[in-house]
Amino acid sequence: MIRRCRRLCFLLCVLAGISYLLFNASSTDEAKVKGGRLDNRHAHPLLFDKERDLENASDDDHLDDDDEDSDDEKATEEDGAELSGSIVAPNPPIDPSQITEEAIYEDNTKVHVLLLAYMRTGSSMTGRILKMSRSGIFYWYEPLHMLERHFVTGGHPELPYRNKSLVEVFTWSSVAKGNVSALLRCDIENVYKGALLDGFVTYSAQTQQFAPCFETAKTTSAWRKCARDMTAACKKNYQATAIKCIRLTLERAVEVMMDDHKVKVIHLFRDPRAVLLSRHKLGYTKWRDLHNEATAVCARMARDLEVTPTLTGPDLNERYAILRYEDITMSPNTAVQRLYDFMGIKPSEEEVSEAIDMISEAKANLTSAQVAQAWRQAITLQDARIIADACHDVMKNLGYRLDFADETELKDLRVPAFGEPPPDFASHLLV
Ligand SMILES: *[C@@H]1O[C@H](CO)[C@@H](O)[C@H](O)[C@H]1NC(C)=O
Ligand SMILES: *[C@@H]1O[C@H](CO)[C@@H](O)[C@H](O)[C@H]1NC(C)=O
Ligand SMILES: *[C@@H]1O[C@H](CO)[C@@H](O)[C@H](O)[C@H]1NC(C)=O
Ligand SMILES: *[C@@H]1O[C@H](CO)[C@@H](O)[C@H](O)[C@H]1NC(C)=O
Repeated sequence: MIRRCRRLCFLLCVLAGISYLLFNASSTDEAKVKGGRLDNRHAHPLLFDKERDLENASDDDHLDDDDEDSDDEKATEEDGAELSGSIVAPNPPIDPSQITEEAIYEDNTKVHVLLLAYMRTGSSMTGRILKMSRSGIFYWYEPLHMLERHFVTGGHPELPYRNKSLVEVFTWSSVAKGNVSALLRCDIENVYKGALLDGFVTYSAQTQQFAPCFETAKTTSAWRKCARDMTAACKKNYQATAIKCIRLTLERAVEVMMDDHKVKVIHLFRDPRAVLLSRHKLGYTKWRDLHNEATAVCARMARDLEVTPTLTGPDLNERYAILRYEDITMSPNTAVQRLYDFMGIKPSEEEVSEAIDMISEAKANLTSAQVAQAWRQAITLQDARIIADACHDVMKNLGYRLDFADETELKDLRVPAFGEPPPDFASHLLV
């Protein structure tokens, strides 16, 4: 009986899917352009009507783009250490022929993890901890990147960002929320196509293995096949799905949690003084306009932190945790264990120690205290105060020290720069 029902559902799904695709693709299906390419700046036949010359866009693009493009290379540069060694590809490529219909539509009990962060808070490193578990996390690196671009540039994703307030609007949008929710459920057919063609898919072995399929899919049926194969692999072979995302508000993330009770949110923060300094080093922050820059960065964090105290009650409380970058670098062992416990993932001891090594290796030759607090050597007391002024509430709620008596105290690492947050927030701390 259940089996019959499944078959019927399957048929219905197929029919619904076909009509959805026919409807959605009618304007682009005719396009027959030479092979798409896995590059943010090249059009794919199923994504655009025609290819455009994008050379003009590049420079502006880089400066305006609010993402972590170069994060993997530069994540720890400001801490005086280079990340060494790449992470072993977690899972062997999936053979789609091995996947049954049953597996595809099975309502399995996996965990859906949303790592919610802000640019330069250490989210790539934290994401790397998540994906180190070869016992199976289907990991997405910034999947909303191209959708945000599409949104901000009004459907011309190849153009540079011109209106930054639209970037902000995007974080609240229902398309951002809808796509995150679909990705967590492995519902690839309903995901924005550009997300599957983004260069960021190569930042995760699980998404990368399907890149060639989408790149070369020139018809909607070919595309649909790729999406179905990816859905099947994502559902069948992994204990969890995880997304690292700097492009969604906590308020929208909570809606995702309400709709889907398998969703857990890890909310990542870092001392705003370190965040601003790091963004400055990459050219994202105008230092002479420090107060306004700090205000903008902290306004987003502050709005999200307003939601935090409302996440009470056993259900939400257990599915939301705050993680401070400083706690990861200071206590890698505890941080890694708690992260996996929170997700309900049981990696092997070897995987756990690899993750811990990865954190320590990234910080080679520096003590953990030096790493977490390197910003103190690089900033002046005056600038630290400008940021603390703009970020007062955020820093207070997260337990970051607001001020130092003088330059000497600022540079003296024996003086702690963070401690216990107020109870409403401390109760959510993962470490
Ligand atoms: C960039 O755009 C300008 C103005 O539209 C045009 O004159 C110029 O040739 C373009 N440059 C390239 C490299 O396409
Ligand atoms: C940017 O977008 C916002 C929201 O749509 C709009 O109110 C504002 O006028 C735009 N600014 C510019 C400079 O286009
Ligand atoms: C994802 O984004 C696309 C593009 O805006 C939209 O058409 C689609 O409905 C979104 N998917 C979901 C599940 O919300
Ligand atoms: C750590 O320091 C030692 C000795 O100064 C040096 O040989 C080594 O290359 C350094 N390692 C890294 C990763 O910087």
